[in-house]
Amino acid sequence: GAKPVFVGSEGETWNMDPALLEKAIIDRKEKTGKLPKAIVPVALYGMPYRIDEIMAIADKYGIPVVEDAAEGMGSRFDGQVLGTFGKYGVLSFNGNKMITTSGGGALICRNAEDANEVMWYATQARDAYPYYQHTAIGYNYRMSNVCAGIGRGQMTVLNDHIAHHKHVQSLYEELLKDVPGVHIHKQPADKRYDANFWLCAATLDADVKIQGQENAYKEVIKTAVGGAAGVIHAVDSATTDCQPNENVEALRVFMLGKKIECRPVWKPMHKQPVYEGAPVYTNGIEEELFKVGFCLPAGPYVTDDDVKYIVESIKEAIVR
Ligand SMILES: Cc1ncc(COP(=O)(O)O)c(C=O)c1O
Repeated sequence: GAKPVFVGSEGETWNMDPALLEKAIIDRKEKTGKLPKAIVPVALYGMPYRIDEIMAIADKYGIPVVEDAAEGMGSRFDGQVLGTFGKYGVLSFNGNKMITTSGGGALICRNAEDANEVMWYATQARDAYPYYQHTAIGYNYRMSNVCAGIGRGQMTVLNDHIAHHKHVQSLYEELLKDVPGVHIHKQPADKRYDANFWLCAATLDADVKIQGQENAYKEVIKTAVGGAAGVIHAVDSATTDCQPNENVEALRVFMLGKKIECRPVWKPMHKQPVYEGAPVYTNGIEEELFKVGFCLPAGPYVTDDDVKYIVESIKEAIVR
């Protein structure tokens, strides 16, 4: 039943802009008489958010922070892992994440009392009688022992995976540095940032011409693109009012022809039709990033040769 209020990105980490967050808090209080119930910063592509500034604002207004570190498992800010700054932290062990239990995740709590309360709800909210007696609506959200067993095994490779993702990022940074118009998304120079580089993201300048660009968005897509396939609803239009530039879409298609999966960056939540009408506080940065951004392969099986092949393919795609 929560009503989301969206806060735009700043251009350095691409995550929640603390200035816009404070603006949103003040404006919601003025308009509704209430403060937001929680602040949920998200570590996009594993990049740490400006957690020091976000926590300072949260403390100033007494609002709890629930960190969405689903993509940022093992990323650190000033030496401390994401998910341990707020009242709660969320991790995902979905198949595409830094480690996986096939599906599921974890909630980081600060103390046993919070953990007990959450587990009470997660295990059907039962009161202590010999029969099922409920004073609240509970859920069946526990992780199965089979998944937990896989997760314990995965914990042993977590550090290797993080090191690999960082290595792949550094290779992209090195190999893409002389490619005009293509800019790999780096972490801030501020030494407190230590991203896991779950996904390596980049931007493509609008004036770079890509092979096949004239055909971008000409065909309506019929199947799921990227990630877990699943069921998708058919659409009758190839375009929306908020989408990547034609050269970015052409690059995706070109790379697919080379058997490389490039993906657009996440579409801003306030531009999702399902959230039409939700309040949003933005400088337009995330909308600009969605036009020019794309993600490159970075998983544990991506080799140095793969990265070289990927970068060569990007160069080949550019019309000189
Ligand atoms: C930022 C972010 N939050 C939440 C989720 C959801 O996690 P899960 O798939 O484990 O439900 C994901 C990805 O799956 C994500 O990338």
